[in-house]
Amino acid sequence: MRKVLVTGAKGQLGSRLLECVHPGLQVVGLDREVLDLTDSDSVDSALQAHLPDVVINAAAYTAVDQAETERDQAHSVNATGAEILARACAQRGVDLIHISTDYVFDGTGSRPYRPEDSPRPIGAYGASKLAGERAVQAAFEAAQAGWWVIRIAWLCDVRGQNFMQTMLRLGRSGKALKVVNDQYGTPTFARPFAEALMNLAAHPHAAARGVHHYSHLGQTTWHGFAQAIFDFHGLEVNLAACSTSEYPTPAQRPAYSCLDGREFARLIEQEQRDWKDVMASELKRDQQEN
Ligand SMILES: NC(=O)c1ccc[n+]([C@@H]2O[C@H](COP(=O)([O-])OP(=O)(O)OC[C@H]3O[C@@H](n4cnc5c(N)ncnc54)[C@H](OP(=O)(O)O)[C@@H]3O)[C@@H](O)[C@H]2O)c1
Repeated sequence: MRKVLVTGAKGQLGSRLLECVHPGLQVVGLDREVLDLTDSDSVDSALQAHLPDVVINAAAYTAVDQAETERDQAHSVNATGAEILARACAQRGVDLIHISTDYVFDGTGSRPYRPEDSPRPIGAYGASKLAGERAVQAAFEAAQAGWWVIRIAWLCDVRGQNFMQTMLRLGRSGKALKVVNDQYGTPTFARPFAEALMNLAAHPHAAARGVHHYSHLGQTTWHGFAQAIFDFHGLEVNLAACSTSEYPTPAQRPAYSCLDGREFARLIEQEQRDWKDVMASELKRDQQEN
């Protein structure tokens, strides 16, 4: 039985990780109050108290727009915090699965990004996450333990405060909506991603140490994603498309964000499904459970 410690346990991904039931794993989750990535004493005490075999780092500063004016805070969690955690794990021989993002890329690509493609972040959040990836790699350079940086794009869930819930609320309000139609990505759901991470935690030899990409199949725009949500719920919404320039945000976002997750899916033996199929099964499961 391997012991998994999940950081950022109250977050979108962290909470799904804690719900995963895996026969070969014992899971403990800690939120920021107990394990603060930016505080090396709290990281050391948590590792000492729980003695995990593997840590899944789901904690991060994720406010993409705010990061433009809070660069230090974003860097402190996503880069320095990742480094503190990685060094502590490497020194103790604890494996680390660290989560990163498509925002390390500039979005000028035209085919799904592969792990070996050159990153070039265009915003403060992406830059802080890339610095975190590099800190993890450096900390484990001479270590025996395993490290994996798993990038994901457009992480979403059928519950919680996120794009899906916002669109449903706005769609039900009866107001006309305009949603961006020139940013492309693959909505990727937190529950199957959490299950994939737990598979890796249970079978650390499945994938080589290094950077991997996780993704469902297919691509859409935020507008296409919104329409699919309305279609599923049978909502007739006055939905128009707009360009990114018509909807300016403090942070520039990559225009193309799809990740090529074929290799990682093969390694962890999880079938890749179209994002719309995953959305439908997640929504149905949520309706049955609630
Ligand atoms: N959401 C996306 O669209 C997306 C896309 C690509 C990649 N990712 C990556 O996926 C991972 C999970 O994202 P998510 O959507 O689950 O994020 P989330 O919902 O914002 O959760 C992040 C968690 O980290 C915690 N946290 C923040 N600072 C911390 C610190 N100093 N020490 C410990 N915990 C801290 C937060 O606690 P508080 O609530 O107290 O701040 C929160 O519980 C992140 O690495 C993110 O960069 C996300």
